[in-house]
Amino acid sequence: MERLQKYISECGVCSRRKAEELIVNGKVKVNGIVVKELGTKVSGEDVVEVNSKVIKNDLKEYYLLYKPRGIISSVADDKGRKTVVDLIKTKTRIYPIGRLDYDTTGIILLTNDGELSNQLTHPSNDVEKEYMAKVKGFFKKEDAIKLSDGVVLDGVKTKKALFKLKRYDKKTDSSYVRVIISEGRNHQVKNMFQVLGYDTLKLKRERYAFLTLDGLKSGEYRNLSIKEVKQLYSLK
Ligand code: URA
Repeated sequence: MERLQKYISECGVCSRRKAEELIVNGKVKVNGIVVKELGTKVSGEDVVEVNSKVIKNDLKEYYLLYKPRGIISSVADDKGRKTVVDLIKTKTRIYPIGRLDYDTTGIILLTNDGELSNQLTHPSNDVEKEYMAKVKGFFKKEDAIKLSDGVVLDGVKTKKALFKLKRYDKKTDSSYVRVIISEGRNHQVKNMFQVLGYDTLKLKRERYAFLTLDGLKSGEYRNLSIKEVKQLYSLK
């Protein structure tokens, strides 16, 4: 809930001061009734009219979240688990662009801008996503080549990618592998490793297009700048 004059100005109709004038002059209706009190509280559910025209709060919001483990990448969960949306303080109905698995950490974008979301998740759009994966066993060079060239998942070959061993940890018999893919199929990284028999122990998304986790700790988020939003729109 927020004050009517603030709501009107946030909808981009006019300044807060001008909105106050309109209210006291009887030009504003809430749910069909003229409201002249400045303190009146409204929410996005209320129908607000200014000079007999319904106004809408369609200001767009864009967030970059460092998703922790154990958080679901959807708006709501039928098992009551915490979602990425729960981590962001906003009254706007936002949703994640694409998904990360429950146990995957790292960068995820959230917005109420359906146009940008559709554009970025459309299969024709090759947005690069970079991951650090920890897999069981020694990750062989020949397997890196096979996965980079593409393997068949659900009958369709994956696009060119990059799989590169960064470090092998003898003590735990596990490999750290840098992965860059430009598709966003379900559980894609884990399923690709699985084709060659590797179990993914940990997965972290460190980059989405030109955006990284710089300056954020797990669970923290920031707004995208207008420049970053424009850059995302110009990706092809
Ligand atoms: N690939 C996966 O397997 N899981 C993710 O969360 C993201 C990419």
